[in-house]
Amino acid sequence: MEAHKKLTIGLFGFGVVGEGLYKVLQQTPSLKASIKKVCIKNPEKKRNAPAELFTTDKNILLNDPEINVIVEVINESEPAFEIVSAALKNGKDVVSASKKMIAEHLPELLGLQKQTGNSFLYEAAACASIPVIRNLEEYYDNDLLHSMKAIVNGSTNFILTKMFEDKIDFQQALLLAQQLGFAESDPSLDVEGYDAVNKWTFLLTHAYGIVESPENIVFNGIQDVQGSDAVVATEKHFDIKLVAQAKKLQNGFVAAFVLPQFVKHDDHLAFVKSEYNGVVIESGFADKQFFYGKGAGSFPTASAVLSDLSALRYQYKYEYKKLYHHIPQKLTNDFYVKAYVSFDDWLYIPKDRFEWIEEWHAESDRKYLVGVLPFEEIRKNTWWKENNTSLILTPDSIIEDVEIRKLKRKSLELAGII
Ligand code: HSE
Repeated sequence: MEAHKKLTIGLFGFGVVGEGLYKVLQQTPSLKASIKKVCIKNPEKKRNAPAELFTTDKNILLNDPEINVIVEVINESEPAFEIVSAALKNGKDVVSASKKMIAEHLPELLGLQKQTGNSFLYEAAACASIPVIRNLEEYYDNDLLHSMKAIVNGSTNFILTKMFEDKIDFQQALLLAQQLGFAESDPSLDVEGYDAVNKWTFLLTHAYGIVESPENIVFNGIQDVQGSDAVVATEKHFDIKLVAQAKKLQNGFVAAFVLPQFVKHDDHLAFVKSEYNGVVIESGFADKQFFYGKGAGSFPTASAVLSDLSALRYQYKYEYKKLYHHIPQKLTNDFYVKAYVSFDDWLYIPKDRFEWIEEWHAESDRKYLVGVLPFEEIRKNTWWKENNTSLILTPDSIIEDVEIRKLKRKSLELAGII
């Protein structure tokens, strides 16, 4: 595509994001991008746009030679993958916001980009308005990126903020997130952590060249977090957040997961409230950098689609530098985590699997402990999210193999055992 070519768009989906893009494009004539046709599933639904713009026939968009960009912002991931594949094969560039589809089909999508040479951009699929993918891709050299810690799901962050700061109950907070257009149409994707791990899957590709199925990344959502956990968090001067984390370990591998976590009040992520997202990157020499912005909602998501469209005007493509131009990193489960675990009965807790337990509170109905577990225990087993048990990582939760003996000895000394 030559520089500054006019973009003629075929848009799939006219929900929160699609309609947002339609409105945003009307306000940015300088982009020279116009929507020629919109493909929708339900023609009966009332739309705030001229009726002749809409069709239910995807081939009208996919086979129109004048349409040079397909923007795909539909809900269902398999139809989204079919649309994206067909569009790339038909010589069109594609912009997508379908995080589930991208996470589940990453190897095929990488292949299609190589095969067709067309651009496939998806900045809107993670952290909406925050330009995190392009920054990871362009700015951070592989060797220098030590760690990433992020809030990547707006709905769960919104719910936690409403519950713990505004004292609104979970169901009401979720309803509000749905009404405001933050939540997925199946909100369990947000609440149970699926949406966050999907986003983390391809952020790990852009950060470290890791190409993994989301099924291979340990995750949980906020469904197990209890009121009593919030009380303990407050006592300890922590917030509770759903945190996606990745850290390059001394053994050369990367530790990565998405789990609820206690966050210190002075942590950058504690500053991230409501539907906002935040990404803290630690890199060599630069130390910490913090990206912050709205992670869900119509216009913030449309703004990222708009930015991708703008990038297409100068033929921008992801190069997947960490994957193709460096030695890609690999995930490991060979490390330890310090976790707070609350539960109804000791019966449900395999105490012997902990390296050590440094706090236990068994006096009230809701009991809890703080201890260190091999990460493999969390990966392989599910006791920590069954029987009303809630696991929340502590701040600085990752403990490397090389540190474990020293720390274990120190904890036993402190407990007066040696
Ligand atoms: N349901 C998603 C969220 C929307 O809450 O973050 C943005 O990807």
